[in-house]
This record gives sequence, structure tokens and C-alpha cells, in this order.
Amino acid sequence: MLNIALPKGRLGEKVCRLFAKSGYEFPGMLDNNRRLVFLNEELDMRCFWVKPFDVPVYVERGTADIGVAGKDILLERNPDVYELSDLKTGYCRMSVAAREDFIDDSRKTLAVATEFPNIAQNYYAGLGRDIDIITLRGSLELAPVLGLSDVIVDIVETGTTLRENNLHVLSVISELSARLIANKSAYKFKKEIISEMMRRLETNS
Ligand code: PRP
Repeated sequence: MLNIALPKGRLGEKVCRLFAKSGYEFPGMLDNNRRLVFLNEELDMRCFWVKPFDVPVYVERGTADIGVAGKDILLERNPDVYELSDLKTGYCRMSVAAREDFIDDSRKTLAVATEFPNIAQNYYAGLGRDIDIITLRGSLELAPVLGLSDVIVDIVETGTTLRENNLHVLSVISELSARLIANKSAYKFKKEIISEMMRRLETNS
């Protein structure tokens, strides 16, 4: 049996439709229910919803043979998995944003609020800038608005959330999209079935 971990949420729904279009359908997966595990006995595959941040954990440990994770999560967690392909969906950018009236003083330590401390650390280390990381879980835009931080390192998709909170992008750290990832030994032992899946997903994405 092939085990697949998909990220629960907006991206996961898009990816689930891509899987169905590619011939990998898991009945009930997009219904409004709270089930987490879905079987397709004919395909001999099992698919489960996982919190987006946790997909690489399931794949790295082999509980899932393959999974789909945003590039943001792969950059942050740096898991020991194969990144097989770009599924060309879930496009967004990891960006630095601040209030419209923010003026940077490079002699001062920069207070950075983020859900991605490793990405932020690596980015500012590359610039040789001293920062103070404030790790938050969501609604990051609040931090510079209320004065908790100078800037945020966060995902920007349409830019609406920034605009509506009077923030703007200072720089783009990285372009992001959904990636198909595989457990290293599963890729070796289930190579044929995984390669066929890769081929079909790439054709339909
Ligand atoms: C993400 C991100 C931004 C928003 C950007 O948050 O953290 O807040 O989407 O999208 P936009 O550029 O299209 O406005 P999400 O909705 O995933 O929730 P969160 O704030 O709880 O992380």
C-alpha cells in the first residue's frame, strides 16, 4: 500500500483535486467531515490529512511514503526527504513586510516576528544583520501594527492582508509553491508507482 500525506487546508484542497484529476481519487476527502484517513482499495493507496507543518515529519519517518508540502515548510524544517517535483500550485512568496512609515536603522537590532524562525535567521545572517526573532503562530500582521516587532517574515499571496493592515513588502526572500516529496527508502522500493504518480501529477498540474 502507498501512503500519502496531504496538507489539510486551502492548499490541500487544490492538491486533492489535482490528485483526483490525475486518477488518484479518495472518496469523501473533500466532503465536509472530520475524517482524516481515506482509502482507495482499488489503487491500494491510503491518503490522510495532516497539518501542513507536519507533512515532512510523516514523510521523513516513513509513515507516509509521499506527501505534499509548501516550499516554505521545506525551507523551514529542512527534512531529510526527496523533493520530487514542483506541483505548480499554491504560488506565493516568503517576504519581509513592515508598516508604510517604518524607517530602518541598520545600527539597531531588528525585531522580526515570524512563524518561520529558521528562514528569517538564515536570511538575515546572509545580510549580516542582528535580529531579535519573535516566533508567533498566525496573524503576524498584528505584530508591526501594534509595535511588537519592526517587521514580519511571512507568506504573501495576493497581498490583500498586508494592504488591509497598512503594511507593505520590503523584500522577497523566496518564491514558494507546493512540492511533491518522498521518503528516501520508499522512493527506492516503490519507485515505479511513485514515478508514475509524479508523471501524472506533472501532466495535470
Ligand atoms: C497567510 C499569511 C498571510 C496571508 C497572506 O495566512 O500568513 O497572513 O495568508 O495572504 P494574502 O497575501 O493573499 O492576503 P493564513 O490565511 O494562512 O492564516 P494565518 O495568519 O493564521 O497564518
